[in-house]
Amino acid sequence: MKVLVATEKPFAKKAIDGIRSIIEGAKGELVLLEKYTSVDQFYAAVADVDALIVRSDKVTAEVLDHAKNLKIVVRAGAGFDNLDLAACTAHKVVAMNTPGQNSNAVAELALGLMVMMARNQYTPGTGCELKGKTLGIQAYGNVGRLVGNIAKGFGMKVQALDPFLPAEKIEADGVKAVTNLEELYATSDYLSLHIPATEQTKGSINYNLVSRMPKGATLINTARKEVINEPELMKVMEEREDLKYVADVAPACAEEMKAKFGNRFFATPKKMGAETGEANVNAGLAAANQIVDFLVNGNERFRLNK
Ligand code: 3PG
Repeated sequence: MKVLVATEKPFAKKAIDGIRSIIEGAKGELVLLEKYTSVDQFYAAVADVDALIVRSDKVTAEVLDHAKNLKIVVRAGAGFDNLDLAACTAHKVVAMNTPGQNSNAVAELALGLMVMMARNQYTPGTGCELKGKTLGIQAYGNVGRLVGNIAKGFGMKVQALDPFLPAEKIEADGVKAVTNLEELYATSDYLSLHIPATEQTKGSINYNLVSRMPKGATLINTARKEVINEPELMKVMEEREDLKYVADVAPACAEEMKAKFGNRFFATPKKMGAETGEANVNAGLAAANQIVDFLVNGNERFRLNK
């Protein structure tokens, strides 16, 4: 069993050590391709491996064409918009993710970004507190739930919308269930996005929604930049000098936003949400275990392509 870890953004050493011990413990061989700079390096590395672990690295039909022995690819993380699932199925490759394993890291970052924006990015002058403000959570999954939990510790009022979850499940956590998206935006001082990037959600955070936010509101995006309709967000922020936007991963128009909106806008230079040693270990080891369990026992739990 030959397993490739192909990560443009590498795991922490501790995670690699753990992955190695799981793979070698199952009599397998671990190959590393880290910080690669061209897709050709990826094509060459994947040529003879049985299994592949990636982070946000794109697994396209072309990558799969070069991976003649590949049986399984695991995205060590939650969002799997970087995997071409149809191509995986066509190439008879099982695709999995490791849901929940890096959620706490993302949730902590979301709250950290909120504090940073409330304090005007730590520039001198009077900021505000999170206590008593209303936080809206769009999509109450693994990350959304943790964000709500931490926010309650800050004394925030928490409300959430999730079309795939019964209201009782949300309310059971002491979180107000909101069923109308416009209402969620209109009543949230802070709005934290936890939706995946799908054909339905791409570009869905638009003028109609953001323009409804209350005075002084902040939109927090630790999900995917693709879900934002960037030109429409720019337009609202031009019209409304009170609104703020903070994102984990710069939008395409980041430079323009920085110039126009100053402290009302911030974006991390590279996706930081899951960049903790703990998240690397949790997601990386889960990926290695899932590979061994699939190749040795045929376990297909967490399979994404049916
Ligand atoms: C995820 O979907 O799990 C997160 O966005 C983390 O992505 P990363 O592994 O590229 O940091």
